[in-house]
Amino acid sequence: MTRILKTMLLGSAIALALGGSGLAADLTVGFSQIGSESGWRAAETSVTKLEAEKRGIDLKFADAQQKQENQIKAIRGFIAQGVDAILVAPVVATGWESVLEEAKDAEIPVILLDRGIDGSPDLYMTMVASDQVLEGKVAGEWLVKDAAGKECNVVELQGTTGSSPAINRKKGFEEAIAGTPTIKIIRSQTGDFTRAKGKEVMEGFLKAEGGGKNICALYAHNDDMAVGAIQAIKEAGLKPGADIKVVSIDAVPDIFKAMADGEANATVELTPNMAGPAFDVLEKFMADGTMPPKQIITESKLYTPADEPMKVYEEKKGLGY
Ligand code: AHR
Repeated sequence: MTRILKTMLLGSAIALALGGSGLAADLTVGFSQIGSESGWRAAETSVTKLEAEKRGIDLKFADAQQKQENQIKAIRGFIAQGVDAILVAPVVATGWESVLEEAKDAEIPVILLDRGIDGSPDLYMTMVASDQVLEGKVAGEWLVKDAAGKECNVVELQGTTGSSPAINRKKGFEEAIAGTPTIKIIRSQTGDFTRAKGKEVMEGFLKAEGGGKNICALYAHNDDMAVGAIQAIKEAGLKPGADIKVVSIDAVPDIFKAMADGEANATVELTPNMAGPAFDVLEKFMADGTMPPKQIITESKLYTPADEPMKVYEEKKGLGY
């Protein structure tokens, strides 16, 4: 009998004993997290731990400190421990075939959280993530409207090189501005999704552009880099949100504070609750073998200062941030 079949039968037996609740009890799940590069990432970690606790799932957590080799090591460790399933937020898109084949051979379902991989979809059970091209598009469309009729030079802070959000958010934004020749990306560099790097790279952009007078807008692939860049813009004697418009992605509490202060203009929300939908489909699969769709896509909502930023800030503060 295969390992998965045994787990499903065990789950069903327990479900019956529990009065047909339909839940597979006592799951052990390994979670290979990227690290804690951003406020959003830290929130995703806390939400995942809370979701696991709520459902009685034994979560084995491994922080990869931003390194793919650590993620691969952690996944191999989970396989050796014989966990029931593995969650992984892949730091970069390539290089996963071997280790995911090993999980497949061990019949351990893998769920990708918040980032995609280059490779066969057979390597994982499902992926819970946003439509990252759409996120970039939403940000770009906001700028197209905001800068209508004006020449607008944009500087771009990219996420981690080789990660799916960096690739897709760039693509989506470029698609959105493609029909507007007055909007041009004049500089683009990675800020690795961190506040410190966002500030440092923005300082470089400002210097290279004669102090920044020539820059109309900043597009950052996440809010943390935008918050770092806002600081750099202020230190350069310019007003973020006015002299240089700021549009980014994530919708973490600090960007709403910046919006309330007039220093940021738009953000696209990425929910930190990827684990809820992931555990829902996993529990269902363990209980009765239902295969989830290959992709579970979360919402990408645009927020601007018109959306009561301080109220959203307070609401968000309680959500794992
Ligand atoms: O994969 C999601 C991205 O990773 C978030 O937008 C960013 O903040 C994080 O580091």
